[in-house]
Amino acid sequence: MHQLVKVQNFAVSGDGFGAGEGQSRERPFGHADPGSMFAWAGATASWPNRTDPGGSRGLDDYFTRDFAHNIGAEIMGRNKFGPQRGPWQDHDWRGWWGGEPPFHTPVFVLTHHPRPSFTLSDTTFHFVDGDPATVLAQAREAAQGRDVRLGGGATTIREFLDADLVDTMHVAVVPAVQLGAGVRLWVSPDELLDRFHLEVVPSPSGVIHHLFWRR
Ligand SMILES: NC(=O)c1ccc[n+]([C@@H]2O[C@H](COP(=O)([O-])OP(=O)(O)OC[C@H]3O[C@@H](n4cnc5c(N)ncnc54)[C@H](OP(=O)(O)O)[C@@H]3O)[C@@H](O)[C@H]2O)c1
Repeated sequence: MHQLVKVQNFAVSGDGFGAGEGQSRERPFGHADPGSMFAWAGATASWPNRTDPGGSRGLDDYFTRDFAHNIGAEIMGRNKFGPQRGPWQDHDWRGWWGGEPPFHTPVFVLTHHPRPSFTLSDTTFHFVDGDPATVLAQAREAAQGRDVRLGGGATTIREFLDADLVDTMHVAVVPAVQLGAGVRLWVSPDELLDRFHLEVVPSPSGVIHHLFWRR
């Protein structure tokens, strides 16, 4: 069966940014507030970090619940993994997610500064330097027949779009958030219409789900 390469639940501001400027340990999304970018998912019944019972059902919940469905590996950029740049100064940094990362599969972190792999619970992080097609081949093999999630950030997604390696993409646009600067996925989703079909589905939460699939 064909293994899809999927972007899922990637949140962008109304003006198309996946993160703000000035990322740091204290501010994983730079000047953007991840709480407001992901309020739509956090309010759902399926949000994995939910501490109180309840939560919404419906479209936002469907996407939140579907995040891990049939995914066998993730590819992410080095800036999603953490705030360090250049050669690793702090090898103790093992990502933002603590001892139980939410991936539960092999994760391939794209970087020009590879370091040894390590495992936290059921997630193994591999650090790979290579062009998108080569890294995708590694991720496909690790996924053992299941799909590969492209986890972001915007730089990595753009790189895979430019290489024409993305099959489907779900982007949640959050109109209430305007960032003005940062890492941008698009100026307008129309940029992708030469290669993708697009269906735009507003949710009662205020986010606007954008669903792309290849022409
Ligand atoms: N909105 C969302 O849903 C969402 C999702 C995920 C992440 N984020 C946020 O987005 C931000 C990160 O996004 P970003 O666009 O700045 O960066 P990114 O895509 O996470 O990472 C880009 C970096 O990855 C490395 N890289 C990319 N392609 C490579 C290749 N082919 N070979 C080797 N290395 C490669 C390079 O790092 P080096 O050269 O330094 O190694 C590059 O600077 C963070 O703030 C994160 O929290 C948001």
